Parts: sequence; structure tokens; C-alpha cells
Amino acid sequence: MVTRAMALGCGAALPRRLVTNADLAERVDTSDDWIRKRTGITQRYIADADELTSVLGQRAAQAALDMAGVPADSVDLIVCATSTPDETFPSTATRIQAGLGSTRGAAFDVQAVCSGFVYALSLADNFIRVGQARSALVIGAETFSRILDWEDRGTCVLFGDGAGALYLEGREGEGTTEDRGVISTHLYSDGRFHDALYVDGGPSSTKTVGHLRMEGREVFRHAVVRMSEAVDTALEVNGLTPADIDWLVPHQANRRIIEAMGKRLNLPDERVVVTVDKHANTSAASIPLALCEAVDDGRIQPGDMILMEAMGGGFTWGSALLRW
Ligand code: ACO
Repeated sequence: MVTRAMALGCGAALPRRLVTNADLAERVDTSDDWIRKRTGITQRYIADADELTSVLGQRAAQAALDMAGVPADSVDLIVCATSTPDETFPSTATRIQAGLGSTRGAAFDVQAVCSGFVYALSLADNFIRVGQARSALVIGAETFSRILDWEDRGTCVLFGDGAGALYLEGREGEGTTEDRGVISTHLYSDGRFHDALYVDGGPSSTKTVGHLRMEGREVFRHAVVRMSEAVDTALEVNGLTPADIDWLVPHQANRRIIEAMGKRLNLPDERVVVTVDKHANTSAASIPLALCEAVDDGRIQPGDMILMEAMGGGFTWGSALLRW
């Protein structure tokens, strides 16, 4: 018998303000047509000043707890994946913990940019597997609008704000891929690619928050290759084939990247969860937001095998298999 981290609840939170491509075209030299064709994005939600990363994260976490029917003070571990924390310290996770009204367990942040949710999920899964935690909240929460250069049309049109959360609880399983819960996670990074995607600020380097800088083509070139490797490993290690996957829930950066991954796995479009059109790229929040949408609308059912994959600044990348 092994302990599996079973997913019992998920939650999502989006800011109030919806910003369309047409709205952006009034601000920078771009067009709805260019953004749709290159990325599939039609709109995004942008946080107002009072909608901090922790505020969105707390809303998503509370919704996940409500779905699971468990009180916040029963949670052993809160891991928040974010690259846009409220403050340099303390962690956004501890602010969420306080907001939820919990004073027990451990709370901390994980920073792996767009791969952050997969990294946080892996951490929580390992805590539960070894018995250091029985339950965990895994949150991806971001306000990337705060680190965008709103004069740079090459990047400001790509991102949005939001948060998603997953509540996990340890359950005994047979140790096979038929068990419900997290089956495996695979994480990777290669710091040589810093210059392709980074923020040109930080407390140690410039004392400013800085702005996101990206070589879009370079990121695009690596994304499908790296994520494919991570997905192939996940399938191989578990003795699975693409035919065993019910849902691909990918990081939502760009419709073209998502479609390329779907094709590679030979999955029909209706088995790939896409939210990038409505949310744009919400970095660490994008996978749990997409997961939550497909759970809420009934597409994902208990027992379904879900494959998640992501790539982000660092570069970091990874995959996760979860039987819902
Ligand atoms: N509106 C209109 N024109 C634009 C815009 C815009 N918003 N942005 C750039 N352009 C112009 C450029 O100036 C350039 O013009 P030029 O030919 O006159 O010089 C032209 O469009 C082409 O620019 P490219 O950057 O070469 O366009 P490309 O086809 O590579 O598309 C994009 C850019 C959408 C960023 C693409 O490279 C991409 O999706 N890359 C992946 C990046 C990504 O997803 N990053 C997210 C973070 S990492 C992750 O989540 C995986």
C-alpha cells in the first residue's frame, strides 16, 4: 500500500475587471486580429489595486476547501506558487493562511514561474507520500499585470491575473495507476536560459520590482520540445500511452503551443482543456484555473486520468499525472 494525494476540491478566482484585445489596442500599437492569430487570446482579467495575489489566492483556496467540505484549520500544508508575491516577504502563502483563519500547519511559497503549479503540486504530493502532511492546499496565484511593461506590445498582450487551488488529502492506494490521486510528477530546470524570460528587477539586483522581458520566439522554440520530453517521461515511467489520458490540462500560454502538444499526444481537441482564450497566460494560476473550469462544467469526472504540463522562466518545466 502507498499513500496517494487525492484531489478532493478545487477552486478558482478571477479579478473583477475584464480587458479585451480591443481595450488593449487603445493603449498600445496592436490589434485584436494580431493577438488572436498569434496566441488565441481574446480577453484577460486584470486585478485592481485591492486585488492582491493573496486576495485572489485566498478566494480560490476557500472555494477548494468548500468543495472538499473541510475547515481551513485542518490543513497541514499550504504551498502557494507565485512569481508575483504581495511583498518580498513574508510569503503569500502565510498571508493566505491568515486570511483563511488558520494558525496551524506550514505555509510557504514556491517560485518556478509558469511551471509553479506543477512544482507546488509535486512538493505537496511528496509531503503527503512520506507522511509529513495528511492534507495540503496547492495554490497558483498571480498578478502578472503588476510586472508587465505596458509599453511593450510584445509581452503586455499575453498575460492576465487570477488564481486556482487544489485541496489534496492522503489516502491509502494500491500503488497502481488505477488509484485516484497524484500518480507522478516530473520536474526539470535549466538556468542557462535566463535571458529568454526574466524580470529585470528584484531586491538583490536593482531594488526595484522590474518588468517582464521575453524573447518570445526562443521560448516558443523550447516550449513544445521540453514539455513533450516531460510528458513522454511521465507516460513511460507509469507504463501508460497517450490513449490512457482522458484530459490534457496544459499550462495556458498560447493556443498554438497547446495545439501542438495535443497533436503530439494524438488527443482530439475536445480532450484538451483550453482557457487561454478567456484568461490569457496567468502563469502559475493557469493550470488550476483550467482544471477547475473542466471540473465545474462536468467534463472531468471521478476516475479520469489528467495530464498536466508546463514550462516557464528559468527555464523550468515539468509534468504531472493525476487520476481525479
Ligand atoms: N501586436 C502587433 N504586432 C506585434 C505585437 C502585438 N502585440 N507584438 C509583436 N508584434 C510584431 C513584432 O514587432 C514583429 O514586427 P516586425 O516583423 O515588423 O518586426 C512581428 O509582430 C512579429 O513578432 P514576433 O515576436 O517575431 O512574433 P511571433 O510570431 O514570434 O509571435 C509570440 C510572438 C506570440 C510572443 C510568440 O513568439 C509566442 O507565443 N512565444 C511564446 C511565448 C510565451 O508563450 N510566453 C509565455 C511565458 S513562457 C510560457 O508560459 C511557456
